[in-house]
Formats: sequence, C-alpha cells, structure tokens
Amino acid sequence: MSKKRREGGGGGNIGCDPPVINALSMDGGLREVSLSVVFSVWCLLLLLLLCSQFLHSQTDPSGTHERSTSSHGSINVMLPWRLIDRFFVDFYDYAEDGMRENYCKRKLAQRSERVKSVDLHPTEPWILSSLYSGSVCIWNYQTQTMVKSFEVTELPVRSSKFIARKQWIVAGADDMFIRVYNYNTMDKVKVFEAHTDYIRCVAVHPTQPFVLSSSDDMLIKLWDWDKGWMCTQIFEGHSHYVMQVTFNPKDTNTFASASLDRTVKVWSLGSPDPNFTLDGHSKGVNCVDYFTGGDRPYLITGSDDQTAKVWDYQTKSCVQTLEGHAHNVSAVCFHPELPITLTGSEDGTVRLWHSTTYRLENTLNYGLERVWALGYMKGSRRVVIGYDEGTIMIKIGREVPVASMDSSGKIIWSKHNEIQTVNIKTIGADNEIADGERLPLAVKELGTCDLYPQSLRHNPNGRFVVVCGDGEYIIYTALAWRNRSFGSALEFVWSVDGEYAVRESTSRIKIYSKNFQERKSIRPPFSAERIFGGVLLAMCTNDFICFHDWEEGRMIRRIDVNVKNLYWADSGDLVTIASDTSFYILKYNRDVVSSHLDGGGSVGEEGVEDAFELLHEINERIRTGLWVGDCFIYNNSSSRLNYCVGGEASESEDNPFIFSVARFLESRGMLEEALEIATDSNYRFDLAVQLGIAIEAQLDMAEECLLHAMDLSGLLLLYSSLGDAEGLTKLTSMAKEQGKNNVAFLCFFMLGKLEECLQLLIESNRIPEAALMSRSYLPSKVPDIVTLWKKDLQKVNPKAAESLADPDEYPNLFEDWQIALNVEANVAPKRGIYPPAEEYIIHAERPNETLVEAFKSMHIHLEEVLLDENGDDTHEAIEENGVEESQEDAVEVDVEADGSTDGAVLVNGNDTEEQWVLTPDQ
Ligand SMILES: *[C@@H]1O[C@H](CO)[C@@H](O)[C@H](O)[C@H]1NC(C)=O
Ligand SMILES: *[C@@H]1O[C@H](CO)[C@@H](O)[C@H](O)[C@H]1NC(C)=O
Ligand SMILES: *[C@@H]1O[C@H](CO)[C@@H](O)[C@H](O)[C@H]1NC(C)=O
Ligand SMILES: *[C@@H]1O[C@H](CO)[C@@H](O)[C@H](O)[C@H]1NC(C)=O
Ligand SMILES: *[C@@H]1O[C@H](CO)[C@@H](O)[C@H](O)[C@H]1NC(C)=O
Ligand SMILES: *[C@@H]1O[C@H](CO)[C@@H](O)[C@H](O)[C@H]1NC(C)=O
Ligand SMILES: *[C@@H]1O[C@H](CO)[C@@H](O)[C@H](O)[C@H]1NC(C)=O
Repeated sequence: MSKKRREGGGGGNIGCDPPVINALSMDGGLREVSLSVVFSVWCLLLLLLLCSQFLHSQTDPSGTHERSTSSHGSINVMLPWRLIDRFFVDFYDYAEDGMRENYCKRKLAQRSERVKSVDLHPTEPWILSSLYSGSVCIWNYQTQTMVKSFEVTELPVRSSKFIARKQWIVAGADDMFIRVYNYNTMDKVKVFEAHTDYIRCVAVHPTQPFVLSSSDDMLIKLWDWDKGWMCTQIFEGHSHYVMQVTFNPKDTNTFASASLDRTVKVWSLGSPDPNFTLDGHSKGVNCVDYFTGGDRPYLITGSDDQTAKVWDYQTKSCVQTLEGHAHNVSAVCFHPELPITLTGSEDGTVRLWHSTTYRLENTLNYGLERVWALGYMKGSRRVVIGYDEGTIMIKIGREVPVASMDSSGKIIWSKHNEIQTVNIKTIGADNEIADGERLPLAVKELGTCDLYPQSLRHNPNGRFVVVCGDGEYIIYTALAWRNRSFGSALEFVWSVDGEYAVRESTSRIKIYSKNFQERKSIRPPFSAERIFGGVLLAMCTNDFICFHDWEEGRMIRRIDVNVKNLYWADSGDLVTIASDTSFYILKYNRDVVSSHLDGGGSVGEEGVEDAFELLHEINERIRTGLWVGDCFIYNNSSSRLNYCVGGEASESEDNPFIFSVARFLESRGMLEEALEIATDSNYRFDLAVQLGIAIEAQLDMAEECLLHAMDLSGLLLLYSSLGDAEGLTKLTSMAKEQGKNNVAFLCFFMLGKLEECLQLLIESNRIPEAALMSRSYLPSKVPDIVTLWKKDLQKVNPKAAESLADPDEYPNLFEDWQIALNVEANVAPKRGIYPPAEEYIIHAERPNETLVEAFKSMHIHLEEVLLDENGDDTHEAIEENGVEESQEDAVEVDVEADGSTDGAVLVNGNDTEEQWVLTPDQ
C-alpha cells in the first residue's frame, strides 16, 4: 500500500484489470438480473458523459504555472470538447403485477477519461464529473449535452462538488489546490493551496459555509468561505491517506472519514479529536456514507478487503458485512429513496443490496472498467456511476407506483413503507374535470407495512389487500389496515373468488382458501417461474404454461408458449396470452372442462384437449393490456393504444380514455351512456344499432354514421327497412356516383323506377338481363332492347343473334303478350305511389299470383278493363314473371334461370280490396 500505488492509480489499467469485467455481456448481465430480481434496476436513462480529450491542451505542463496564469479570475474553457462516449440503453419497462423485465441495448461505447468523482445538482438536471485528466465538466442528463467544462489542472481532480446555493463548484486536485468556480459565469472564485499532498475528497456542509477536505497528508481541514476560505479547523488522527469525508445529514455537526489506515472515524466540528473510531476492515477503507432513508443510525464503508460494512454508529458495531465483490470496493451509498444499498468496485460492477435484508438484489456490469464513484440525490431515484471509461446514470426502482384500486374506486398505494389511500368517488359526479387535470383528492394515511412493498393487490371483493415484497406477503384488511395473514411468497395471486395461491419456490405452489387456510400444495414437475391468478391458476416455465383448477389443483391444459403475461376477461370465457412477440386470444370452454372432469375423463400430459380454443393470434407485443367486456385494449410496443375485438386489431384513434370508458359502459349494458360519450363513428353505429331497435331517435345517428362511413349497403338496409323513399332516392345518386350498380338498381327497383332499372342494366352492358326484366315488368320496352341485344350478340354469335325473336314481329311467340302490354299501360301511372307501411299486414296475405294471372282470373272484368282502360278499381300489374315460352333458342332459356327478381312492387294505392302485391315466385 505504498504511496506509489495510489499515485499510480491512474497509470493505466494494466495489472489491475478487474477479472469480472467482460465476463458478462451487458445484455446477459441484465437479463440474468431480471430473472432473479425482486428489486431490479431499470435503467431508464443512461448516459455517458465523459469527454475524452481536449483538442488543445495547456502548453505549459506545470500545474503551478496554470495556477499563476489563471489567477486573473477567468478560466480557460476547453472548446471544443470532443465527445466520444455515449451510451444509450433502450429500455422498455414491462410492468404489470410486480413483474418487470429489462431490455438493455448497448449502442455505442468508446474509451474516455477516467471519472474520479460524480455529483448531482439538487435542482438542475446536471451531473458534475471530475476527471483524472485534470478537468471537470457539467453534463445535462436530460438533453444529453455538455453544459460547462473547466480545465482545472493537468493532474487528477479526485473530487468536485456543487455548492448550489452559491452557484459554485469546488474541486480538489492532486496539485494540492482547491479551486472554486462560479458555474454560471465560469469565473474562478477562489484558488488556494489546501494540503501538502493529493486532495482525495471535498465535502460541502448542507447549511453552513463550510467545506471539508481530506488528503494524503492524513489531515482533514475545514474551510469557511464566509471567512475568505480560511481554514478554521484541522482534524488530525488518521495514520494513512484520508480517502473520503462526509457530513452526517441527520447531525450536520458531525462527519465521518474513511482512511487507508483501515478505520473510519467520526468527528464533531469544533472538536479536534475524533469522537470514535470504527475498526473492522482488514484493509484500507476507501469510502463512507451515512444512511438517510430512515431512523437507523447507520454508516456504510467500502474497503480494499473487497467488502462493504454497515455500521451502527451508536452501538459502534458492525451490523453486516456485504461480501461478493471481486476487487477493492471503491464507492458505497445508501439510496436516499429506496431500501437499496449500492456498492461499486474495481471489479467493474455495481451491486445492489437490500437495505434491510442485505440480500444481493442485482449486479450491474456495463463493461466500463473500474467503478470509482457513486452519486445520488435526495428525492430522486437516479444514481450516477463514475467509471474508468465514463459515467452512467441509472434510475432504480419502479417507475409505476405500487398501487391497487378496488371496484368502488378506492385506491391504495405505498410510498416506501407507508400505505396511503384515496377514494376517487369522493369527487362528485357533477365535478367537471378536464382530461389530464390533477384531481383534488384528500390523501389519507392508512398505516405502514412491515415489508417494502413490491406489489399490492386488492382481492376481488375489495375487502383485503395483499402486499408482497422481499419474498414475503402480508394480507391486510383494506379498511383498517390490520394484518390477517402472512407467509413467504415469491409471488401471490388471487382467484376470481377470493382464494389465493402463493409461489414459495419454483417447485412449490400453495393454494389457500378464502379463510386463509392452506388447502393444497402443488409440486409441479417443472420449474415454475411465474404464476397467474384469475379463472384458473396458471404456472409458467419459459416454454409453456399450465392451467390448473382452483378446487383440486388439477391440470386443465398445457399450452406451449413463452408467456409474458396473461389477461382474463371478466366473463372468464376469454383470455389473452401475451408472449414476447405476439399475443393470442383464446376461448376457455368451461363446460367442456367440467363435463370432462365430471365424467371422470383422464387428464394426460397436455390436459383436456378442448379446454381452450385459439380464436386469434396477433403479431404485436403488448406492454399493458386490459379487457373491457369482449374488447381487449392494449398498449403496443410503440406505445400506441390499440384494441382488439373479434380478432380485428385496430388503433383507437379517439381519446383512448373515452373509448375504454364507452366500452366499459357497453359491457355493463349502459348503451345509451356509452353512446353519449363514444366518438368513434363505427363504434357509435354499433351502439346505435343495438339501441335503435327500440329507440327510433337513434336511427338518425345510425344514418349519420353510415353516411360518414359511406356504407351504402348499410344505408340500403336502413332505408329499405324504414321504407324511406326519400332516403332511397338520395342513395341512388350516391350509389351511381360510386359505381355501386347493385345498390342503385335495388333502390330504383324499390322506388318503382323501372325505366331507370333498365337503363342501368343497359349502361352496365347487361343487355340480356335488361331484356328479361323488360319482359317481366315493362313489356313495351322489349322490342327496343331485343334490337340492342341482337346487335350486341351479332358481334360474337350472329346465328344466336338471328334467332332472337322480337315480340313486335312474332307476338304469337310471347304468351299473353297483349294482356301484358295492357296491364303495363294501366299500371304505369300508379307506379311510385306507396301505401303507408302500417298497411303492410293487409298486403302480406295477398296471394302469389302475378298480375297477368290475376288479370286473367278476374276474367269477368277483363273486357271492361280493356275497354274503358279505367284503372280506378281494377288493378293490374305488370306481368308474370319469367314464364317464357321457350322458343327454339337456348339463350333465353339460359337467361331465365337468373331472372330472379326478388323485390315486391306495390302496384297500387288505395283500395285494399283490390290492391296487388307482386311477388315473383322463386
Ligand atoms: C463528540 O465529542 C465532542 C467533544 O469531545 C462532544 O462535545 C460531543 O458531544 C461528542 N459527540 C457525540 C455524538 O458523541
Ligand atoms: C486495491 O487494493 C489493493 C490491496 O489493498 C491495493 O494494493 C491496490 O493498489 C488497490 N487498487 C487501487 C487501484 O488502489
Ligand atoms: C400482525 O399484527 C400483529 C398485531 O396486530 C403483530 O404482532 C404482527 O407482528 C403482525 N404481523 C405481521 C406479519 O405484520
Ligand atoms: C403505453 O405505455 C407507455 C409505457 O408504459 C406509456 O408511457 C404510454 O403513455 C402508454 N401509451 C398509451 C397510449 O397509453
Ligand atoms: C402499434 O400500433 C400502431 C397503431 O395501430 C401501429 O401503427 C404500429 O405499427 C404498432 N407497432 C408495432 C410495433 O406493432
Ligand atoms: C307464395 O308462394 C310461396 C312459395 O311459392 C309460399 O310459400 C307462400 O305461402 C305463398 N304465399 C301466399 C300468400 O300464398
Ligand atoms: C282511398 O281513396 C279514397 C277515395 O278514392 C280516399 O278517400 C281514401 O282516403 C283513400 N285511402 C287511402 C289510404 O289513400
């Protein structure tokens, strides 16, 4: 432990390469972590800020000279910095039910200068790093840009801190000088020689104008900037380099110092001698930090003996030794917000330990060589790590709060160990709240929790809440927060009836009754990595999922899929299985299962074959999902809200909140309410149709929706059902515009506009159909059309064209030709006049005869009619349908087959006795 080695610490990595580095790729390391974790680290933001080289540097190699040149009060700003390193971690959090998963990708990593200390600004998004190369820089971690940089000296700057209340930074370097800069103006505030050897650390008093410095000269000095940076006290007592000093945040009159003399000493300002010494490490102590998260009077230290120790400074005893690092422990800290202790080592890793159980929760290895510094800030989950090759910022802990809401709107969540509650129902319904507005709710303290909650869940009826964490669970009453049951559990799930299951290990799952009695213990023949509750109890390995029933724990079905999450619909008939790359919607055939089991059917390795039916497979990764009725709403990997109904996945364009509320209302049968708030026109139409059957007013809505959607067939259905002639008229023009001839034809036909029908057929080159139609409905037009037809047929088959007979020439070939012409003439003026819909019932009973048949059967009147051509009382119609005399030619016979017209044409108005409905027989 010669001075040389400490000095030479910067000489290079040769010889002190940490063995662990590169053993794990970053990816592999984090994955391993994510599997093991209770507390995993979510690196939401990761950046590396170290700058590698100055493009120009001081020409004068002597640090002293630098001091003299810079005593004018300004500093050299090294521009441009060359920014070489940049780390990105693409992070996708995947949080549901306490489950989390990390995906970290390393995009780029390059060498940069060694970071010796890091500090976070209390209000600005800034990281202050001091570099072995002799400079200090401020980095904005939000914009990922360099804010300021100061070249301090050519020797290592081992420590620098913000003094935010003065807008200063203070830096101590190996040239034994302390320098103070104003970080706004970049002016040098003060430069003074502080020690007779390297300065290892500077610490800023939280309120007083004091800075402490510690040095290889074994001294600690107190500086008062209100007294012109006078040294007001010297603390002497260590017998080796003093590596770190830190104020006690709970008693700012005291501070601790870590030294290579293997001890930690605690001092009081105003007293030259240490209050006490903590002795326990077998090698030099590099770092020390006070516990701030709670009342415990703890200190943590890290040492060259490769351990970290937690001390109770009241009893002056070592509480715990954290073992695991493979090299000197160079930085330690208690996380100020989370029950996490971090240790960084020259082995290149940062380890995360649980602050109460001291279990190793996570090991981070970003492959940036040795760790030298850790920085944190009260009130933030961000942690900065300084390495040989750069700086990384990570954010630890859950992004999503641990919370649960029961069906009545009561939310319970945890804030560290405190449990708080709020009832959103206390906001009156009349209280208008804009989207995104903060709700004026009164938060109530409910109690505390004996474990650090990692998940929190109401049971289905909302009477109980389970809190899980640290491998244990406690069930509390939701109202009074009294514990009702507890036990060990890696995972805890509720059934839909309030039973529950816990996964104690990968090989033991226990089912409990509603009365907290153990009912069943299952030892799965595979390694159960996860369980899911709901309608069935599901256990997963990495390759498959097994569903079991809650009553007997019998296996229902095994499905070979890697399951990330499971979502049951409320009905219990549908379930979504989400995998890494896609999701599946399955139907659960409850009846098949129960009849199979009741019938004593055996359950094979795969379970009951027809227990599940795959309805849909959709190739999207779900972040979060939710069933509302039969609609599955999910947030996909590009953070877009989508929904899936009946296997159709679509993006919900409208306000997703409104949308899901509408679906929710619909699922509760509150259709009118749903319609009131729904904005998606297709969806509104569905609702309107559901409602419209009963409520006519809603049909307007349906019409509007169909019009917007240009759903012409839908409109045809609507108008024809409603007998809306005006609507049909409108529709004809729309349909013609859109080239929807079928729709246009049906409209014309229903409107009795037979000439238009014919015209449409001719325009669309359906001449044979036109001929047959006119034979049935407008015999007077037949000759014209036959002429057209002949011409047309001539082109392809002159012989067939020749054989077409024109009724004008051969009336004898057309049965009842003259009668048909007469009927047509009689009926023509009445076409397009409709009796009201309520008379339908009268007409419905009419016989099926064609008008010609009817005409003939009314033989008595025939002559009369023919003579005076008075249609007032007798009604005739168009014509029989299709009964063509079969001439010699095959063409007509052929066409006859599709002479199927289905409409009912109302031929006449008034007199019920003699109205006719023509219903061409099929
Ligand atoms: C530390 O020592 C000083 C002087 O001996 C004394 O005044 C002070 O109370 C002590 N503090 C603690 C916390 O023991
Ligand atoms: C780590 O600890 C060992 C043993 O005390 C020491 O020899 C070595 O120099 C230390 N490494 C550094 C970089 O200080
Ligand atoms: C449950 O509550 C009792 C007192 O009400 C307490 O003694 C016990 O430690 C609690 N158990 C847990 C696990 O919190
Ligand atoms: C999707 O999920 C991400 C992360 O959980 C969240 O930030 C985003 O707002 C969600 N998007 C929607 C539309 O809910
Ligand atoms: C997410 O959903 C949106 C909208 O439906 C879609 O455009 C996008 O392609 C989806 N992203 C992925 C990764 O599937
Ligand atoms: C009309 O004819 C169809 C089948 O040809 C028959 O089922 C129906 O009962 C008939 N209607 C009347 C009113 O005679
Ligand atoms: C039928 O015609 C008579 C006179 O011809 C008229 O008084 C009566 O209102 C008509 N009925 C209907 C339903 O149009």
